[in-house]
Amino acid sequence: MATILVTGGAGYIGSHTRYFLQKQGHSVIVVDNLSRGHREMVPDGILREIDTRDTARLTDLMKRERVDAVIHFAAYIAVGESTKVPELYFANNVSGSLGLFDAMLAAGVNKLVFSSTAAAYGIPQRVPIAETEPITPINPYGESKVMVEKILEWLDRYREFRSVCLRYFNACGAEPEAGLGELHDPETHLIPLILKAVMTGKPVTLFGDDYPTDDGTCIRDYIHVSDLAEAHIFAVEDLLNGGTSDVFNVGTASGHSVKEVVTAVERVTGKKVPFTIGPRREGDPPSLVADSQKLQSKLGWKPKRADLDRIVSDAWEFALRNMNQNEQLAYGRRQKADT
Ligand SMILES: NC(=O)c1ccc[n+]([C@@H]2O[C@H](COP(=O)([O-])OP(=O)(O)OC[C@H]3O[C@@H](n4cnc5c(N)ncnc54)[C@H](O)[C@@H]3O)[C@@H](O)[C@H]2O)c1
Repeated sequence: MATILVTGGAGYIGSHTRYFLQKQGHSVIVVDNLSRGHREMVPDGILREIDTRDTARLTDLMKRERVDAVIHFAAYIAVGESTKVPELYFANNVSGSLGLFDAMLAAGVNKLVFSSTAAAYGIPQRVPIAETEPITPINPYGESKVMVEKILEWLDRYREFRSVCLRYFNACGAEPEAGLGELHDPETHLIPLILKAVMTGKPVTLFGDDYPTDDGTCIRDYIHVSDLAEAHIFAVEDLLNGGTSDVFNVGTASGHSVKEVVTAVERVTGKKVPFTIGPRREGDPPSLVADSQKLQSKLGWKPKRADLDRIVSDAWEFALRNMNQNEQLAYGRRQKADT
């Protein structure tokens, strides 16, 4: 079993991956600056509050803990925000990655799994999208990830630094039994937004119903976060066993429209989803579905939780538990104020 450093492990996908790595028997250290993550998503004792740009502290940590490999999630992830403050995305996502890679080189750690994104493909020419599709990001977020992929190609060639880039499609779902789920602030992802509308009665805006799809709404490939987490374990174990650098899509190869997701939420929750239709968002392609054949054939990974109702029901259970927890915290604060 190996010692694996997980950056961004207090965030959504990182916390699930940490959970599955530990289940598999690996020893895990989480590095997160908590800028967008949650302390309570990390078990006691394994969180190190460090920014990935702090090369000196990371080098020291990796040497001391004898880290074997790194899984690098830490980044800012909001496409809309990246179009307003692109410099923030290059500073955090690109400089943050370089700070980490410098530390890895200094500490003699040369195995990395990197969180990349379907946003690397921009508006694809062919769907399902294979890894060979042209890389043409259309926003600073996607570009920041492509820049890191490029850096990794050069490090592979000249520094014997082995990496696997995983280009995720739409991560969703939760692992409610483990207390883990999606908690972005602000939330921009469809399923938690629809669930919030169900809980609050305030309508969610669906962007565009005049796309060239069967029901007019966009089609996306929804990948359960636990399947995604397991893909990282296949990737890191392959590197630890001497595997070479590579790039893989991670998706289910089947798409669901926004309206299909609404219907699934109504089926699972037994409640009507209040929604309004807004204009199309700039740069939203009609359909983004992964061809994940390469990951399945080369590393043997398969999605096990691809059923949309399963995804929605896990996310719903987490949202309900989280709402209860928030109510309990608020109740505790009121009690404290009263005494
Ligand atoms: N959520 C998705 O659907 C999706 C899709 C494609 C790719 N990704 C990629 O997956 C990764 C994880 O996404 P997520 O949804 O879990 O995001 P998240 O915001 O929940 O988690 C990111 C974590 O990184 C931490 N972080 C950010 N910058 C840091 C820094 N400089 N130093 C230390 N910690 C830092 C944050 O505090 C947070 O805990 C990201 O790299 C994202 O680009 C996500």
